[in-house]
Amino acid sequence: MGFHKSLFMAMSAMRLTISTTAQSIQSDPCQIVANQQVEAQSKVALDNPQNFPFKVLVDAENAYQCYLSIPIQNEKAVTVLEYQKEVLSMYSTLAFLKKPPKSYQQPAIDVLSRVDEMIDKAKNGSYNNLNEYASDWSAINIAAYDTHFTVSSAGTSLFYWILPEDIVSVSIDGKALPQVYAYNDIANNVSSFSPIVELNGQSIFDYLQTYLTKTYTGMLDPHAEWNALMYSAAGLFSRWGSKSDGPNMYYGAFRLSLTYNGPSVKGKFANGTQFEWKYMAGAISDFTASEISSGQQIYDKLVLKKTSEAGKRGEEMQKRELVDQNASAASFPTSVPYPSYPKTPIVVQRNFTRGGTISGYLLAENSTGVLSLPSFEANKNNELSSAREFNVAVADFIHQCREAGTKKIVIDVTGNGGGTILLGYDTFRQFFPKKDPEALARSRATPYWNTYGSIISGLQPGSKLYDELTQGLAGAPDLNSSTSLSVDSERWSSWKDYFGPVNINQDNFTRPYKYDFSTEGVVQALSFNITGYGDRQPNYDEAFPSEDIIIVYDGACGSTCSIFANMMKNIGGVKSIAVGGIPQNGPMQGIAGTRGSQVRRSDVLDMVTKTIQENLLDSGNQTNEALRSKLGVTAEDIEALPLSDGLPWALASVSVNTVDAVMKSKEEVPYQFAYEAANCRLFYTMDMIRDVTKLWEAAARVAGGDTSDCVPGSVNGPGSGINEWLFDSPGFSNADIWGNANSTKLLVEEKSDENNSSSASGMLVSLSMVVTVLTMMWAI
Ligand SMILES: *[C@@H]1O[C@H](CO)[C@@H](O)[C@H](O)[C@H]1NC(C)=O
Ligand SMILES: *[C@@H]1O[C@H](CO)[C@@H](O)[C@H](O)[C@H]1NC(C)=O
Ligand SMILES: *[C@@H]1O[C@H](CO)[C@@H](O)[C@H](O)[C@H]1NC(C)=O
Ligand SMILES: *[C@@H]1O[C@H](CO)[C@@H](O)[C@H](O)[C@H]1NC(C)=O
Ligand SMILES: *[C@@H]1O[C@H](CO)[C@@H](O)[C@H](O)[C@H]1NC(C)=O
Ligand SMILES: *[C@@H]1O[C@H](CO)[C@@H](O)[C@H](O)[C@H]1NC(C)=O
Ligand SMILES: *[C@@H]1O[C@H](CO)[C@@H](O)[C@H](O)[C@H]1NC(C)=O
Ligand SMILES: *[C@@H]1O[C@H](CO)[C@@H](O)[C@H](O)[C@H]1NC(C)=O
Ligand SMILES: *[C@@H]1O[C@H](CO)[C@@H](O)[C@H](O)[C@H]1NC(C)=O
Ligand SMILES: *[C@@H]1O[C@H](CO)[C@@H](O)[C@H](O)[C@H]1NC(C)=O
Ligand SMILES: *[C@@H]1O[C@H](CO)[C@@H](O)[C@H](O)[C@H]1NC(C)=O
Ligand SMILES: *[C@@H]1O[C@H](CO)[C@@H](O)[C@H](O)[C@H]1NC(C)=O
Repeated sequence: MGFHKSLFMAMSAMRLTISTTAQSIQSDPCQIVANQQVEAQSKVALDNPQNFPFKVLVDAENAYQCYLSIPIQNEKAVTVLEYQKEVLSMYSTLAFLKKPPKSYQQPAIDVLSRVDEMIDKAKNGSYNNLNEYASDWSAINIAAYDTHFTVSSAGTSLFYWILPEDIVSVSIDGKALPQVYAYNDIANNVSSFSPIVELNGQSIFDYLQTYLTKTYTGMLDPHAEWNALMYSAAGLFSRWGSKSDGPNMYYGAFRLSLTYNGPSVKGKFANGTQFEWKYMAGAISDFTASEISSGQQIYDKLVLKKTSEAGKRGEEMQKRELVDQNASAASFPTSVPYPSYPKTPIVVQRNFTRGGTISGYLLAENSTGVLSLPSFEANKNNELSSAREFNVAVADFIHQCREAGTKKIVIDVTGNGGGTILLGYDTFRQFFPKKDPEALARSRATPYWNTYGSIISGLQPGSKLYDELTQGLAGAPDLNSSTSLSVDSERWSSWKDYFGPVNINQDNFTRPYKYDFSTEGVVQALSFNITGYGDRQPNYDEAFPSEDIIIVYDGACGSTCSIFANMMKNIGGVKSIAVGGIPQNGPMQGIAGTRGSQVRRSDVLDMVTKTIQENLLDSGNQTNEALRSKLGVTAEDIEALPLSDGLPWALASVSVNTVDAVMKSKEEVPYQFAYEAANCRLFYTMDMIRDVTKLWEAAARVAGGDTSDCVPGSVNGPGSGINEWLFDSPGFSNADIWGNANSTKLLVEEKSDENNSSSASGMLVSLSMVVTVLTMMWAI
């Protein structure tokens, strides 16, 4: 789950004018930020839910000067980095990031040695300011291409930089290679529009390729990175609509970046017209409310850990920052608040648009049903019931489509970066209640993981510790071996039995596991039985034949979406379409957010650690030696667990992917590193940007077997067959892809043994046959 730092990407409209009045030359740049925030706040308009007034925008160059003026204490950075490195040891893909297989479309990175370099730099006092430290972290974060790996360390997200325009990449007719346009030219159908050919004096392709090395998208495929730069209504809606509180805006990664990119971008349209788009800055804090007027004060008040008194004040300030945010949440719209979505859903999730994101539609006189799933996120305020409402909306959609006699089902997961894992399983089972949702997963076998797992798996009911751990970790198979099964569906005799370690790629891993859905804890973790279990038995074996369903994704699909999409394909036998990508012919991967199965945040692990330390270490009148020894852990093991309590900085949080999805036949390598093309790729057309039903109609045609709209060379690309994750080169590399941007040359020959023009349904028949003999699965 999760996108980068779930940034508070609210922004007030760019129409705000920034005060340029009477700033004293001597003013501290941070004081100027404070003044500009006050000025801008007074002009915030609340009329549009997209213009959440949480943050106001200020002059970018000045804000950057403020950022550069934030000091750092190198010795404190060392302490924080050492803690963060301990958390990073649980990152399951470290060894493969360092030495990836040929199928991986990004460069290798040795994450731990890059962190060691940072520690060295801090030790020898090389960091001159907080920005230098934060930039090093960002560079590592960017180069891991994994939305499950995020660093919210001091300084990494104090400011963001935002342009007044989005861009889109669209094809004139769906056949011609896409060109990049200003989003508003396309959305408003202006009469004389022209593509952008140059940015800052470079060809737009060279510019964006370089830009992507400096800004975070988390995408493991260059085509998906390209899409992440672009405006996407689904992407926006998935972040904004899934929460019932808090501004949670999201913009394309071209428009908004955490990396300062200069005061403006200058460009040229193909018709010769030149333009300059000026960056503005947003800050995550209201400087006036926080009494900040210098870089030193930012360090003192936002970076340094607060004493409890100051901490309370900090909380108060944060509340004040949020003051206006409920103003536009007063009423819940029933249609997607983006003009490109139809206004006539047949189904919406309760609290749709503020706490719910699912909607369903009937198109083409009921012959096509569309399920729009921009997120699997259950509302955190009320997780259980909003998960139930998600389940109800999907069930209602299926029911109505079956009643209406729908012929084709389009499942649109564009923009879907994940959410509640069990909802991925449940949604799969709503379509295929009889198909076993088994998927394989495993973790990095490290000492900390062993300590956590030994305790969580070994504890018996009847203690405060057990009750507290169960609350947070009910049904967590990665840490509780009583909740999982071996590849051969056998129970583990103990945590140690599961833990291994197995040595692969010069690293240690646990043995692969799958969820044990017969365990009450798992089935009931949602508070209702997953579809097909217990009392939740649909009156059909499959909601629709698999060959009538098609999934549409744009690369952003990750985490729970990756789990869901994989089960739909590899167990359900459902075809897929990837949309968009770098302008060139050929295949595209559609699942590129993260293919990891579980993210763990350091602050959550912290709570587990504290609970364990409070209950299992010895206190004055009690010794836990016997219990520890029964669990197979020592007091030293427990004391060694990472804990952020004593750290000097308030912000030291890291999230890491702790669970890999793996495949039975190729269980050495994580899915994260496989190549897996969609069955067909479509270019976005101008119509699709203005009206998403045009995309859905094109998808329904492909589902019907007509692949004539598919991009040349994109049908049944490498790794697109069932259970055919590719770990060899797909025939091209990242450099080949960028080197051939805007070229129609095919990087790989299309398979000659396929009937590419009209073979989609034929392909599906054989895929379904494979499915029936499937005994394994992926992705958790
Ligand atoms: C500090 O450490 C870094 C990383 O090891 C190294 O590149 C740099 O030269 C060192 N600087 C000094 C002043 O020792
Ligand atoms: C866009 O404008 C053209 C004429 O400039 C018109 O033919 C077309 O129908 C318009 N499309 C939409 C979706 O408004
Ligand atoms: C050139 O293209 C841009 C971008 O679409 C447009 O705003 C501008 O009006 C065009 N200029 C001319 C002279 O047509
Ligand atoms: C892309 O290729 C087309 C056709 O060759 C050309 O007209 C266009 O200028 C190219 N775009 C860029 C940004 O180079
Ligand atoms: C939310 O809105 C209500 C009514 O409009 C108001 O009374 C309340 O103070 C607002 N909450 C916050 C945090 O501003
Ligand atoms: C489509 O289905 C709905 C609900 O099942 C029904 O009310 C409507 O009449 C149908 N429309 C057509 C054109 O069949
Ligand atoms: C739906 O909205 C209502 C009214 O704001 C709120 O009380 C309820 O908690 C929300 N439900 C969920 C699941 O978020
Ligand atoms: C571990 O899993 C078992 C089986 O699901 C469950 O009964 C037990 O409560 C779990 N333990 C904890 C600490 O959550
Ligand atoms: C793997 O585990 C063995 C002990 O089981 C240990 O000696 C070795 O250092 C571990 N390797 C890594 C890379 O952690
Ligand atoms: C699951 O189904 C069983 C019946 O098979 C029922 O007894 C149980 O209450 C259900 N669990 C939940 C949480 O609804
Ligand atoms: C000693 O035991 C009592 C009763 O279990 C408990 O309330 C108290 O906190 C313990 N004292 C210490 C120092 O752990
Ligand atoms: C290709 O299509 C032709 C005509 O539909 C058919 O006879 C042939 O068997 C197909 N070949 C393959 C490999 O599917």
